[in-house]
Amino acid sequence: MNRITKKIFGKLKDGRNVYEFTLKNLNGFEISAINYGGIITRIVFPGRDGIPSNIVLGYDTLDAYLKNPFYIGALVGRTANRIKGGQLLIGNHTYQLSLNNPPNHLHGGYNGFHNRFWDIEPDETNNLLKLSYLSPDGEGAYPGNLNIEVLYALSEENELKITYKASTDKPTPLSPTQHTYFNLSANPGETILNHDLKIKSLELLEVDDHQCPTGEFINVKNSPFDFNQFRKIGEQIDHKLLSKMRGYDHFYIFNKVEGAEKKAELWHKPSGRYLSMKSDFPGMQVYTSNFLENIPDEKNRFYQKHGAICLEAHFHPDSSRYNHFSDWILIPDEKFEHSTSYRFEIK
Ligand code: GLA
Repeated sequence: MNRITKKIFGKLKDGRNVYEFTLKNLNGFEISAINYGGIITRIVFPGRDGIPSNIVLGYDTLDAYLKNPFYIGALVGRTANRIKGGQLLIGNHTYQLSLNNPPNHLHGGYNGFHNRFWDIEPDETNNLLKLSYLSPDGEGAYPGNLNIEVLYALSEENELKITYKASTDKPTPLSPTQHTYFNLSANPGETILNHDLKIKSLELLEVDDHQCPTGEFINVKNSPFDFNQFRKIGEQIDHKLLSKMRGYDHFYIFNKVEGAEKKAELWHKPSGRYLSMKSDFPGMQVYTSNFLENIPDEKNRFYQKHGAICLEAHFHPDSSRYNHFSDWILIPDEKFEHSTSYRFEIK
């Protein structure tokens, strides 16, 4: 059976075609992605009602993705999250990165993975898409020619596994992520406040007034940040500790455990859709779409505040600043390989 399909999604100004590839399995689970930004445009999964429905935010046109200020569905890099003052220290050299989120550098800057043109090669045998991109030395002021490959693989167990592989010719930081906005109700008109969330994490990163890490950790026990047991996202989202960020927008450190186990679980009980996430990154940014407020798409659907949740696994943000954070520098001759997977079930 031919499981991977390809269709034209749009055309860039320079004439290059943007294609949308769709992977399917035998249970009605599908994901679609385009070669612009490596953007995941749709994830389709049936709920208890058996009707396959789209459970991620997305747009229908390339034009909308060419703007995409909220990184909807996009691959993010070289470094996900914020770098204070855009100052990246490697060895004894400081690279000044762009301040696209003043006064900081966010999600790889103006020319990050999210708006690059990727090559996509479908692999029918393994039911996966292989995305590749050569980020040239100096792109966004990052050092080194970085060769990156991202695999989007779909299994018959309804798992989407995202694998990042890379190599470089100069030391460079690499902390990629995927910025998909999940709403398991399949109805962007319904917020995710009624979703149940569980995160295996006892601490998160403290941040300054501009959301950059201070180097300190905050214990989540008995606070609105504690998701060690399933809890409705909306339960304490209006707590004063969250008011500055307008909701959850925090980096959770996963508990150190042996083996591949679930780091986070998201459950929309009314539809039965349940997602579990595994990752070998040390933590993730949990972002409850706090800045999506009446964002119209071209069909005049409005993406609203808390209309979705992002579970963005990556290395500690701004790791070059703190020795006790991740070692996120990839060096020549070293092979980078990390993965995050999202598995969908009905419960
Ligand atoms: C991340 C950040 C948020 C926001 C979104 C994109 O999740 O942590 O603050 O910038 O990306 O809108």
